[in-house]
Amino acid sequence: MSGASAKPSISGSRSRCTPRRSRRTSRASSAIPTTALDYEDLAEPKWRGKLCTRAFQHQYNIALVAAFLVKHGEAATVEWLRRVKANLARKPSGGDRDVAKDIAAGVCDIGLGNQYYIGLMSNGSAEQRKWAEAVRVILPTFKGGGTHINVSGAVVTKHAPNRDNAVKLLEYMTSTEAQRVFADVNYEYPVRPGIAVNPLVRSFGELKPDPMAMADIAMARAKASELVDKVGFDR
Ligand SMILES: [Fe+2]
Repeated sequence: MSGASAKPSISGSRSRCTPRRSRRTSRASSAIPTTALDYEDLAEPKWRGKLCTRAFQHQYNIALVAAFLVKHGEAATVEWLRRVKANLARKPSGGDRDVAKDIAAGVCDIGLGNQYYIGLMSNGSAEQRKWAEAVRVILPTFKGGGTHINVSGAVVTKHAPNRDNAVKLLEYMTSTEAQRVFADVNYEYPVRPGIAVNPLVRSFGELKPDPMAMADIAMARAKASELVDKVGFDR
């Protein structure tokens, strides 16, 4: 593993800009939490017509749904997906930057995205900087758990023809130098101990990763994808 990114919920609004990255949110109003949110609550009717996300069949969201499935089981996951779908402001599409863009444009008040996009947008074009400024980051957690993490990882296959070079690459990716790049250029959480999280990312608040084993999430991915289809989430 070389880096990680938390799946935040981004909520924000067009009208007020707030600091970024801490999973964004903000709207002056009332309904949007400023510091805490859990994934389960995304199904609450108070978000009706207010939520934006990229496709749920995208790997970032499939991992989130898989984690939800491991925690809550199939029936509760289907119910959650149906209710979250009912809260969508628009058809799931685009990327995580489009979520911020749509919040800035007032299409939605809250959205899901990985935290590093805030850093990338903040260093992007003038247009993208506005999107980043329109949102505030909240690091949601599972009820009784932590924040869902997407991982940037790599493995060497058993019969890799260039095994030694592959191992060298992985060693480099976990080196102090490369981990600083993950932290400061791509705004990810470094996995190597002792490498500081970028100050912007730190401003989102303390990350409390959900402790679920990555293998459990991986094992649930196929079922998660099936359930996303079953409820027609992306249609
Ligand atoms: Fe990404």
